Amino acid sequence: MALYSEKVMDHFRNPRNVGVIENADGVGEVGNAKCGDIMKIYLKITGEQGSEIIEDVKFETFGCGSAIASSSMATELIAGKPLSEALTLTNKAVTEALDGLPAHKLHCSVLAEEAIKAAVKDYYDKNGIAYDPEQFREGDEPHCCGD
Ligand code: FES
Repeated sequence: MALYSEKVMDHFRNPRNVGVIENADGVGEVGNAKCGDIMKIYLKITGEQGSEIIEDVKFETFGCGSAIASSSMATELIAGKPLSEALTLTNKAVTEALDGLPAHKLHCSVLAEEAIKAAVKDYYDKNGIAYDPEQFREGDEPHCCGD
């Protein structure tokens, strides 16, 4: 069996939503200290407070192919969706949507989950919106690069 699914290869070769949103409403940047990969998510948000919609989402990823594919898939999963749904996106959902990632590459999908959460938190902070800090608690250091 191939190490990477066709979907991973497709999103790696033709990533969706690459780029920058000028004057984004929320920006989240995260990195993995072990592999050095960095992911940045930009959100354009519309709608009333409490029922916001993600009008646009873009990403920049300086990292491995799995990180690029994970960012691409994650942005597709949240584009046009309620902001509250973005907060419930897990790395597991991203991995499943990609038809799986090798075990030593799962941490790449964790970056996508964390970057989106960081962008939502940035939006909340900029707008003085109260939130439950538990929603943004950092998990255990993701397993990285087969070590
Ligand atoms: Fe670290 Fe993919 S994000 S190797």
